[in-house]
Amino acid sequence: MPRIVIKSATGPFEVKTPKGDSVWICGCGLTDNPDGTCNGNHKKLNVAEEDPDKLYQYDDGERLEVAELVDEKDKDDEDEDDDEDDDDCCGKGCCGGGCGGGRGECCDDEKD
Ligand code: FES
Repeated sequence: MPRIVIKSATGPFEVKTPKGDSVWICGCGLTDNPDGTCNGNHKKLNVAEEDPDKLYQYDDGERLEVAELVDEKDKDDEDEDDDEDDDDCCGKGCCGGGCGGGRGECCDDEKD
């Protein structure tokens, strides 16, 4: 089954063997080495030049921009702002759906 794995590292991770030798493990996900060690593709494909706010796909050594990334925290803040708009609603359904029915007021406000 194919799957998408998102990697954000732009280079390898160093791991020390018990003998003190360094092994460089691919962090970018673009190595062709079956053991997962870095083969230098991160440099060949200029992974460090990627825009951190975008999502890329690599196909046969070609980088393709897939999407803009949305910060989930910013999205949650927007959702909270939307919820705040409903705080003035009386909840009786008189507003025709959204609070105020686009008028910015509820039936309770109209009585005043
Ligand atoms: S870190 Fe992935 S190829 Fe080097």
